[in-house]
Amino acid sequence: MKDNSRERIHSAAKDRLAQDRLIVALDVPTAAQARELASQLSGICRWIKVGLELYLAAGTAIVEELATQGFSIFLDLKFHDIPNTVAGAVRSAASMGASLLTIHAAGGPAMLSAAAEAAAASPNPPHLLAVTVLTSMDRQQLAAIGIEVSPADQVLRLARMATASGVHGLVCSAEEVRLLRQELGAAMQLVVPGIRPAGAEVGDQKRIATPSVAIRDGASNLVVGRPITRAGNPAQAAQAILDEIAGAL
Ligand code: C5P
Repeated sequence: MKDNSRERIHSAAKDRLAQDRLIVALDVPTAAQARELASQLSGICRWIKVGLELYLAAGTAIVEELATQGFSIFLDLKFHDIPNTVAGAVRSAASMGASLLTIHAAGGPAMLSAAAEAAAASPNPPHLLAVTVLTSMDRQQLAAIGIEVSPADQVLRLARMATASGVHGLVCSAEEVRLLRQELGAAMQLVVPGIRPAGAEVGDQKRIATPSVAIRDGASNLVVGRPITRAGNPAQAAQAILDEIAGAL
């Protein structure tokens, strides 16, 4: 095979891998806005995250619609309830076509195991991601709810407990991803929000990293919202991030 065709195949494979790594957070208030963005990103991005804002506005229908269009869906509703209720919620989310779901690690091992069993028994089992300590919580906020350790110590404790209970991965900030990768090994799925390309507006995010730094530190997937959804040209913004990810792989 000629060197340049080998290079082309190699770079096409990297582009596909980059598409698997990028999750676009579709944080918009209406189904119409979600549809418009999805049509601009179709063929460029593979993963869409539906969070509370869009889900509460547009419900199951928008999740099913985006899944039918071929997007893989991360349904980020952060379940936290008794084990029986969370297991039922996981079954419902799996049946609407979500491939990734979030649950709060603080729900404890019984809740996490019930969720993992419900996911595994679904016809199309979704991956469960545990949220450890919300990035909005600092040492003071933790102390106020009776947790007298540092956020990093609490993240590690919950991460170990959640992975022992059968979840497939964790949501963490770029600041913790290197430590969690070292502690939990190569197979653990680590999903990192708070991603900002160099020069992008930071907004309300605090613990941020560029796409290439987060990938090099061990992130499996990057969650990117406003740098894509509020860009003048969302497709172009997404492609630039995909190129940066591909360059870091
Ligand atoms: O617009 P931006 O890129 O900041 O969006 C980040 C997305 O990731 C949002 O949907 C936000 O809810 C989510 N997220 C986060 N921090 C966490 C967990 C989720 O920013 N710790």
